[in-house]
Amino acid sequence: MNGLQEKGIPRDVVLKELKTRLGKDLTYDSGRILGSMCTSPHPFAKQVYAHFFEKNLGDPGLFTANAEIEREAVQMLGSLLSHPKAVGHIVSGGTEANILAMWMARNLHNNRCNEIVAPESVHLSFEKAADLLNLKLVKVKLDDNFRMDLEDASRKLSDKTCALVGVAGTTGLGVVDPIAELSELSLTHNVTLHVDAAFGGFVLPFLRELGYDVPDFDFTQLGVSSMTIDAHKMGLAPIPAGGILFRDESMMKAVSKRVSYLAGGETEQTTLVGTRPGASCLAVWALLKHMGRQGYRNIIKRCMQMTLKLASGIEQIDGLRLVTRPTLNIVGIKSEGSSTELLAQTLRRRGWAIALFPGHIRIVVMPHVTAAHIDVFLEDLNDAVKKLKSRKGT
Ligand SMILES: Cc1ncc(COP(=O)(O)O)c(C=O)c1O
Repeated sequence: MNGLQEKGIPRDVVLKELKTRLGKDLTYDSGRILGSMCTSPHPFAKQVYAHFFEKNLGDPGLFTANAEIEREAVQMLGSLLSHPKAVGHIVSGGTEANILAMWMARNLHNNRCNEIVAPESVHLSFEKAADLLNLKLVKVKLDDNFRMDLEDASRKLSDKTCALVGVAGTTGLGVVDPIAELSELSLTHNVTLHVDAAFGGFVLPFLRELGYDVPDFDFTQLGVSSMTIDAHKMGLAPIPAGGILFRDESMMKAVSKRVSYLAGGETEQTTLVGTRPGASCLAVWALLKHMGRQGYRNIIKRCMQMTLKLASGIEQIDGLRLVTRPTLNIVGIKSEGSSTELLAQTLRRRGWAIALFPGHIRIVVMPHVTAAHIDVFLEDLNDAVKKLKSRKGT
């Protein structure tokens, strides 16, 4: 019976039921979750979150200290993306951040435009943004390296465009669009350029520090007006924790609404939601302070080593190939003999939580993935491919 009962049940009974029921969910430490961009939050971030869960950033007049810490968290994220003076918010995730960016772009252009120009690889959140804001999502084809095709982008920009979007770490393959060139285009055409670095924002700066060849992708490019960077992906923060950063205050003001009824007094909100968890932002702030660049760099170093181990293991399996060499800790796998969809189904039946994109399987080598997990996966993958091949032959 699922209705609300008249009499309450003791806490230990309720907790026991939750533990039993949730025990059926996969856990990150099982090594079976290979297709998610989320991971086990850092224990320190969980501790901070639990301390401050009553904080509400929707009422910054009531929680002024929390609001100040949010500004500092945003500045720390900004410094990671070459703009310590960035303004913005810790929001619920990449989807909300991208919607906010599109809302800002539309309003900045005084509703004179109605198109978002974005690569075919763009995240679903832009479809949601277009739908909500009554904009048209114009998709740009990809080049041979799965990056936004610049000629096609040029062709599709017009006086109807209010936002150009580039992705720094695509959802499917972790590819980085040519942001420097997109920045030039945006300045020439006077359109807002948003960079979705929801995943790559916490990876690319550290890969560069580790000596990897990382293209320009952030606020160093003058056309970049706003960026998404999610702490609940590679930032190891508890869900929900996304980040939206704007180059300057005037951009954020484009979505500002006055709120008069709050306990903390009249204020301005520049987020989609009203009441929102201060604890998320405090966990992000605390974690950034605690980890420092060095802490994150070490994690990214390990993830990238594991990624290259996985990629070379896949190259050794007859009947499989990589879609492209990994730029980030994301690997795209294609089956050459039998269908990739069939292989994905087989792997799922064998208990692997992998992600399926049109034409390829995606593995995200998150911090919870160990070398032993990769060995077990490669062995099972090899076996699955062999069995599918022999079935095809019979
Ligand atoms: C590039 C990119 N942007 C945005 C999102 C949406 O993030 P969220 O699921 O936190 O809303 C994702 C999610 O995978 C993503 O890969």
